[in-house]
Amino acid sequence: MAFPQTRMRRLRATVGLRGLVRETDLRAGQLVLPLFVAEPSAAHPGEREPIATMPGVERLSLTAAVSEASEAAALGIAAVMLFGLPAAKDEQGSGAWDEEGVVQLTTRAIKQAQPDLLVITDVCLCEYTDHGHCGVLREDGRVDNDATLELLARTAVSHARAGADLVAPSDMMDGRVRAIRDELDGEGFSETPILAYSAKFASAFYGPFREAADSTPAFGDRRGYQMDPANGEEAVREALLDVREGADMVMVKPALAYGDLIRAVKTATGLPVAAYNVSGEYAMVKAAAAAGYIDERAVVLEILTSLRRAGADTIVSYHAKDAARWLAEET
Ligand code: PBG
Repeated sequence: MAFPQTRMRRLRATVGLRGLVRETDLRAGQLVLPLFVAEPSAAHPGEREPIATMPGVERLSLTAAVSEASEAAALGIAAVMLFGLPAAKDEQGSGAWDEEGVVQLTTRAIKQAQPDLLVITDVCLCEYTDHGHCGVLREDGRVDNDATLELLARTAVSHARAGADLVAPSDMMDGRVRAIRDELDGEGFSETPILAYSAKFASAFYGPFREAADSTPAFGDRRGYQMDPANGEEAVREALLDVREGADMVMVKPALAYGDLIRAVKTATGLPVAAYNVSGEYAMVKAAAAAGYIDERAVVLEILTSLRRAGADTIVSYHAKDAARWLAEET
């Protein structure tokens, strides 16, 4: 049956009807708030330091991170995701697996203050290496995949030992999920899930993050390990490989320009899928809103809803606190 018997507008007539047939829901409990935690140093002496490229996001001291986490918990946000800025960096990134490192200490403090809030830790070396790449370098300047695996696994175990609820490798080395799973199991953390950044693209949308986390590579770029934005089939293959290696959840990153892959990965894996609404996506919305070009609240809720519609079960977003507040006002 078609028009005039069929009229799509019938079910759009009132708030009640629209609510009755809404396909997608968005809840604070599906959101993850990323936090940047800086070890005190000459470069980062304060409690809270604004990040110029990400208005509303700050680099936090451990104490400030605990209070952000408490605020997130009060808003019903599911989890925080921790990124560390160490006071010192070296060739191997040894700060990443330091038992007293910034992420390890912050994880312990947040779990103590907010036992029910999930803490997810980003497992990568780029914030800890002096060259800014996500693994150790070979003599020819390429990242040494297999030598990096052991360091990532050690890092993940140190996070689990500190109380991390999930560990999230974002380095894009081949075989890292298996290496991390084996090490976690061997060290008594068989119940710590792995959220794998499976389809992580070499994206210009990470620009503001690298500024925030001091993790811009000193030379070259990340195209030797992160994915080519032109490749969708490969994203599915990456996700399926991570499933075979033992990933409990998989991620697609960035999110906005990759909705097709959120759906494809969801369909192919059947696993819980996370989408990472990355720093550049956040910065664009903030800039347009500040200029008065868009309605920030409406745009943010539309973006987050669209990621859920694309197939994301969980959304990592710098908008999480605002979104949780707005969602609470709506109901
Ligand atoms: C670390 C990492 C990055 C992001 C998350 N983990 C940066 C990168 O790979 O260059 C990006 C997050 C964002 O842009 O919000 N490897």
